[in-house]
Amino acid sequence: MTALKPILHHIDNIPSHTGKFKPEKSSVYYIHHRLRFHISSAKCALWWIIFLSLILMLFFLSPTSTTTPRRRHRTTISTGISNWKREIKLSATPCSVRNHVVLVTGAVGFIGAHASVALKRRGDGVVGLDNFNPYYDVTLKSARKSNLLDPEGVFVVKGDINDGELLRELFDLIHFTHVLHLAAQAGVRYAMINPNSYIKSNIDGFVNLLEVVKSAVDQPAIVWASSSSVYGLNSKVPFSETDQTDQPASLYAATKKAGEAIAHAYNHIHGLSITGLRFFTVYGPWGRPDMAYFFFTKNMMNQKHIKIFEGANHGTVARDFTYIDDVVKGCLSAIDSAKKSTGNGKKKKGEAQFRIINLGNTSPVSVHKLVRTLEKLLKVKAKKKVVLMPRNGDVPLTHADISLARMELGYEPSVDLGTGLKKFVKWYLDYYGDEKSSWR
Ligand SMILES: NC(=O)c1ccc[n+]([C@@H]2O[C@H](COP(=O)([O-])OP(=O)(O)OC[C@H]3O[C@@H](n4cnc5c(N)ncnc54)[C@H](O)[C@@H]3O)[C@@H](O)[C@H]2O)c1
Repeated sequence: MTALKPILHHIDNIPSHTGKFKPEKSSVYYIHHRLRFHISSAKCALWWIIFLSLILMLFFLSPTSTTTPRRRHRTTISTGISNWKREIKLSATPCSVRNHVVLVTGAVGFIGAHASVALKRRGDGVVGLDNFNPYYDVTLKSARKSNLLDPEGVFVVKGDINDGELLRELFDLIHFTHVLHLAAQAGVRYAMINPNSYIKSNIDGFVNLLEVVKSAVDQPAIVWASSSSVYGLNSKVPFSETDQTDQPASLYAATKKAGEAIAHAYNHIHGLSITGLRFFTVYGPWGRPDMAYFFFTKNMMNQKHIKIFEGANHGTVARDFTYIDDVVKGCLSAIDSAKKSTGNGKKKKGEAQFRIINLGNTSPVSVHKLVRTLEKLLKVKAKKKVVLMPRNGDVPLTHADISLARMELGYEPSVDLGTGLKKFVKWYLDYYGDEKSSWR
């Protein structure tokens, strides 16, 4: 600081206005002054160089430096990159004769969390991937991670399916035998607010994932979530996989339908083994707060009105509610029965398996019955407002024909709505207690 003083003193003495800086009349004094000025300037420049070098060094050594963005962005741990890789490898190590290693996208989502746990518990290697997006309460996603996934040893990479570099890195690190692709922008009504999120995750992200999987030397088989919403405005019930799906009633449904077409193209060209599962209104503990059974419960607990939709001419709205455990069993069977992909990153060696399968409960229940069941379980009288169903994505009825699922997957749903809702309500009351729940 003392060494700096003369320089600072000199700088302080430089007039702020350049026009006022004139040499003195005496030439000796002038030469001496100029000499002092040059020496001081050189010292000053040296000190500035040292100062700037220190700042640059601190910047590059800092953990938040832009030279190491991945560490912050993609992991759920704050330790170094080698730890990150070690944890992923550990999570991906199978301990059963099946030797399955599954990448689960959307792993902290409702179905993803349950499926990851089931896979890990039976001995499959599992790595989760999720961008923890804020479509609904992110604390619920984090709670699924800390309550369901962490205790089972499922490592979740925080990242987006649109991040090709990240996906390639994961595929270089781990030899995945299967991908259970559940990451998507779900929900039909949100498309009125944020249509692009559906394109970004359900189309761009899906293609990005397929591109990486297609290029893997030993391509994994893919099981992915389509939706019953592809049946759109169809009125023939039950919905069968052979029915036309040309009338989507929402952008969400349109992106899932597009996903099925895209999946077919990758299967045809690149030999990827692909199974698309059309889920029907999945519900249960740790469920999705944007779904009717969930926000009806929340509103009823908070003495708020619930809107009950009815179709044209007071038609009943009904859903083929499918309990989470049944859907998870269907996912696991789809993984187990998936045949190997036939490509090798360049050329397919033969036809690969392509399946589209309904996973429903095959017994639709009216929304009125759903509310009556919740009233009994919550011991609360619902304040109902019956309104005409708006034309923003919902359809009056869903009903799955599950004969193909029975045949291909040995699938047999075993939980009725009353039993499943009882488990949901128990979880809901445990999780939220007396506190008011929120979903955004
Ligand atoms: N729950 C149902 O009733 C139902 C019905 C039909 C189809 N589906 C489909 O099943 C799948 C899982 O549904 P869910 O109910 O568990 O939904 P969810 O929203 O709880 O789970 C989806 C997860 O994917 C993640 N995600 C979204 N976009 C991503 C991206 N670009 N990159 C990485 N992660 C991303 C989200 O953060 C979320 O955790 C979805 O594909 C959904 O469309 C669900």
